Amino acid sequence: MDTQIFAICNQKGGVGKTTTSIGLARALAEDAPTLFLDLDTQCNSTYTLMGINEDEYDGPTVKEALLEDKVELINLENNLFLLPGSDDLEDHVLFTTVPPHRILRQLQKLLSKIQENTQNKFSYIVLDCPPSKGIVLQNALVAATYALIVLKLDTYSSKGIKKLINTIDNLIEEGDSKIKIAGMLINDFDKSTEMDRNNFVKIQEMYSSYIFDTMINHNQYVRKLVNPTQKPRKNITHMYKEFKLELLSRISNVSPQKWGVAKANSNKEKKIAGENK
Ligand SMILES: Nc1ncnc2c1ncn2[C@@H]1O[C@H](COP(=O)(O)OP(=O)(O)OP(=O)(O)O)[C@@H](O)[C@H]1O
Ligand SMILES: [Mg+2]
Repeated sequence: MDTQIFAICNQKGGVGKTTTSIGLARALAEDAPTLFLDLDTQCNSTYTLMGINEDEYDGPTVKEALLEDKVELINLENNLFLLPGSDDLEDHVLFTTVPPHRILRQLQKLLSKIQENTQNKFSYIVLDCPPSKGIVLQNALVAATYALIVLKLDTYSSKGIKKLINTIDNLIEEGDSKIKIAGMLINDFDKSTEMDRNNFVKIQEMYSSYIFDTMINHNQYVRKLVNPTQKPRKNITHMYKEFKLELLSRISNVSPQKWGVAKANSNKEKKIAGENK
């Protein structure tokens, strides 16, 4: 089986990328070896998965792996491995140390090397992406096989999606990435609010087939997934297992042309373009 590399992304902050990455990675690791890469300088997923407080880890991180070839994976539980994040993995770090023609392929190169050196090749790699359009996010979108877009039903989340889709389009058009969009996960849905209900209808109209059937509701126990001192509840773990099943079934049916077809469809483009009207 080819390794599936999921970039969990949205250029908007606070939509649930880290929450989704953690829930999904744990679910995937129940089936097969899974590597989690924390690409965000906030390192929330690193602290949560390691069950430590900030600053309690001073070993090698993704920064040393990218820049100094120092790779140390942490085996968190049976099949789940972590390459910890670095609070210093800023875009400028990659800019200043790598020749321009290699900048976008640094992460892809690192993942290939990890796969070559790992006894049990990883079936899944989960990239928890930062909320910006910088070089780090672009590296993730070049290295990943699938983008998994997470969104909240607030006014600004759909703007984040549009920016992200532009970023993905540009990378594909320049021949830098072959990434496909696995789908969009609605997170933190609060059906009791009129705003969420209205925005849900709008998002469905704009992105219909991209939206996963599984949605993650606003839930205090989901909130606790990004907390090093909390163990996830069974029903929350179950929710992400359900999501994993839908994701895996979807990607087995996503043809390489799917995104191209959607882009070439002018009606669909109009719908997306008309979002600001
Ligand atoms: N379904 C949910 N129900 C309740 N709270 C949630 C839900 N999803 C996420 N949260 C909370 O929202 C906050 C932001 O979530 P998270 O850190 O996963 O977002 P993010 O997109 O990774 O943020 P950033 O862009 O800063 O990296 C966290 O406090 C998290 O616990
Ligand atoms: Mg995050």
